[in-house]
Amino acid sequence: MTNVIVLISGEGTTLQSLLDSCKVAKVVGVVSNTSCVGGITRSVLAKVPHTQVFIKQEHESNSSHEIRILRGIDSIISNYTEPTIIVLAGFMQILSPEFLQHYADKDIQIINIHPSLLPKHKGLNTYKNVLASGDDCHGITIHYVSPVVDGGEIIFQKAFYVTDADNTTSLKEKTKQLEQYYYPNVVDALVIGKTYTN
Ligand code: GRF
Repeated sequence: MTNVIVLISGEGTTLQSLLDSCKVAKVVGVVSNTSCVGGITRSVLAKVPHTQVFIKQEHESNSSHEIRILRGIDSIISNYTEPTIIVLAGFMQILSPEFLQHYADKDIQIINIHPSLLPKHKGLNTYKNVLASGDDCHGITIHYVSPVVDGGEIIFQKAFYVTDADNTTSLKEKTKQLEQYYYPNVVDALVIGKTYTN
């Protein structure tokens, strides 16, 4: 069994899919960097053993905030002997190279899901950018987190056709459907050392 610690910032609909559908990976911790009640409530309702919230304080530096998050994650890990992976699910914070190295040194993988077919449309405002670019296809990418934002090695991608009827709302709905179906499957495959293909 591999433990999963999920990092969130928002409503936690992606977290919910992991809670509902992971069969091998076990979510033992949820760490939020905002007070957004959606994701935190989902964690509490699902009785995830550890739910922690680290809101950046006024005047707090990014690094001291990040260190608090890191210590929170490490405190969760210290309760277990099983391996852990860190799964970002709508976590809206750039992680420093030092943070990433800290977990690389412990052989703990960190993965993220991004709502575009990377390397296209890194960063925010994805759906607007897809429409503005007139893309034929859109989709999702699950990737390792590296110091290059949205630039880590790609683990899995899934695409769909963009139609003339699409707008930002419909693109978001279709994208989130894919995210919520595939993320649990890819996480499960990863923890058993397999590559998920579909
Ligand atoms: C997801 O679409 C994810 O790809 C993006 O943020 C969204 C998270 O939403 N980075 P939620 O908080 O899981 O509902």
